[in-house]
Amino acid sequence: MIAEPGGASAAIIEDLWSFMLWLGVAAFLVVTAIIVIGLFKGDAGDPDTVPPDVHADERTWLVGWGSAFPILLIGAVLVATITAMVDLPDTAENAVVVEVRGHQWWWELSYPDSGVVTANELHIPAGRDIELLLTSADVIHSFWVPTLAGKIDALPDGVNRLVLSADEPGIHLGRCAEFCGLGHAKMGLRVVVTGEAEFEAWLERQGASASPPGDAEARAGMEAFLAAGCGECHTIRGTDASGDTAPDLTHVASREMLAAETLPNTPEHLAGWIATTEESKPGVDMGGSTLTSAEIEMIVAYLGSLD
Ligand code: CUA
Repeated sequence: MIAEPGGASAAIIEDLWSFMLWLGVAAFLVVTAIIVIGLFKGDAGDPDTVPPDVHADERTWLVGWGSAFPILLIGAVLVATITAMVDLPDTAENAVVVEVRGHQWWWELSYPDSGVVTANELHIPAGRDIELLLTSADVIHSFWVPTLAGKIDALPDGVNRLVLSADEPGIHLGRCAEFCGLGHAKMGLRVVVTGEAEFEAWLERQGASASPPGDAEARAGMEAFLAAGCGECHTIRGTDASGDTAPDLTHVASREMLAAETLPNTPEHLAGWIATTEESKPGVDMGGSTLTSAEIEMIVAYLGSLD
């Protein structure tokens, strides 16, 4: 066991990977042994005379097995690969459907059946089929959560489909696996697997509008957020912020990480992210540097209340 698969697809891929690894190790050992035997068995003879063809048998053996051995190995890998591809789940029953849209450089996650929209944190129930419908808002991205399934491209001009499931509650980390610009290495996501009841409760909470600011500081933060134009790109349901080019922040405080797995979601990091976005993730589109530190503090208080 090389990696710990967390679902049926990953287990099939892990089996194939292990088979290829150990087959490769066996081939390496056999070839190395033949070379070593050849080195010690050989009779160099007199290099100046053309020797009679005493090695004809060995040559036949070498050409024969030198052709057959790779064909057998590659044939075995081909059969194992096709078998794995056939075994990988393709149909989903009673599935949770999630639309996954890649952006430079974050993941938009929509649950069409419940109207929930969130970012970078995919919540799914354990033991149920999950049907992901993948697209991209800009360039080609690739969705990859190695402990759950193989990678699949998120394309700007088509919908790719990936069916997966997770065996147990837990966290699985994923990455964008297709170079998509400066922030490619900072385009992570996490998959949060919970029990069915917990998942339904999460959906219900995420589907609700944002809680109104609870105190004066948060209220001032909301006003500063809207005045600064953050709502041109971000949505906070229940307010005037209704942009759709940046992550939905309606329940941003419920998320574990910020900026697609770049920073932990703490008030300090959130303030730093708003103040110096470009330092945390070069190339990112968000501008925040015109805000005063007092405004940032209020906005952080407001966003921190959106759980
Ligand atoms: Cu998105 Cu790499």
